[in-house]
Amino acid sequence: MNKTILITGANAGIGKETARQLAMKKETEKIYLACRNLSKAEAAKKELEAATGKDFFEIVIMDVSDPYSVQHAVKTITQPVDALIMNAGGTGGKTPEKLTKDGVTILTASNLLGHVALVDELIKANKLKNVALFASSEAARGIKKMGMLRPELETSSREEFISVFDGSKFKDNFDAFQIYGWIKYGGTLWMSSMANKYPDIKFLSVSPGGTRGTQGMDDLSFIKKIFIKHIGMKFIMPLMGMSHSLESGAKRFVDAIGNPQLKSGKFYASKKNVLTGPIVDQSAIWKDLDNHLYQKNADEAIHTFLTS
Ligand SMILES: NC(=O)c1ccc[n+]([C@@H]2O[C@H](COP(=O)([O-])OP(=O)(O)OC[C@H]3O[C@@H](n4cnc5c(N)ncnc54)[C@H](OP(=O)(O)O)[C@@H]3O)[C@@H](O)[C@H]2O)c1
Repeated sequence: MNKTILITGANAGIGKETARQLAMKKETEKIYLACRNLSKAEAAKKELEAATGKDFFEIVIMDVSDPYSVQHAVKTITQPVDALIMNAGGTGGKTPEKLTKDGVTILTASNLLGHVALVDELIKANKLKNVALFASSEAARGIKKMGMLRPELETSSREEFISVFDGSKFKDNFDAFQIYGWIKYGGTLWMSSMANKYPDIKFLSVSPGGTRGTQGMDDLSFIKKIFIKHIGMKFIMPLMGMSHSLESGAKRFVDAIGNPQLKSGKFYASKKNVLTGPIVDQSAIWKDLDNHLYQKNADEAIHTFLTS
């Protein structure tokens, strides 16, 4: 049973809605809202308390692009976490290609590196009990209808994954809209590798699907934002099975952490060619996801950026 849950990026979008839905479950006793900005976190906590009538939300200040911030935050968590929802992320802000002090792009840091540090620290401190969920995306397998190409690695070696995470693979052609999928792919493989290493904890990658009503895509170029977020997602994509409500997106996470049918190490997302509806095992669509060597290489590659 998932009594205590920690959600990263819990002050907005899918993370906040996931907290709201989980708070309404009988078994929930505590929800840690892991956020990078205290005033945004306090506003979200107040809103969640008012919406649910529950007073078990606790703020943990954590910037998931900074492993040091994550390691410090884990020390402040007093109760072991039954379920961890690694939701923070997106297209990396205004400068997604910039390198952090750890040597990865901001895009990699905010979606992946801090979450890797978080899982490692929680396990080391014996504070992760049942299930860890990584917010992946159908972009990790490519979304043809949105012009997002499938990540095509040449060798899927450890070195190639390192070049994806530090951005050197893309040279001067860093398009966060495209590279986002590569990072989610790397994260998804890392989760599968963790499942192989820790059979007592369930590791799931789950996409919320095409979800409206979030801050996501706010940092894309003006034209892309208008076209995709304000026209596409609201009016065109729902008709094509490409976008659904915030409630539906968050419900995928809420249902997944309590669903005994879902298998550790797998990536669950929408069926081929759509971004809504039931979730399915993505390795049926793309076999590479089940490749243990690729999983190990992605895991080792991201760990080279964690120095302590
Ligand atoms: N919406 C979709 O259609 C969709 C589809 C597939 C996958 N996803 C994935 O689902 C997750 C949630 O997406 P969303 O659409 O709800 O995004 P969102 O509305 O932009 O919310 C993202 C959340 O992550 C937080 N965050 C970002 N960088 C962070 C950092 N370095 N440290 C701590 N928190 C950080 C944000 O905090 P601030 O408010 O401080 O920025 C915010 O709370 C993301 O991982 C996204 O990639 C979304």
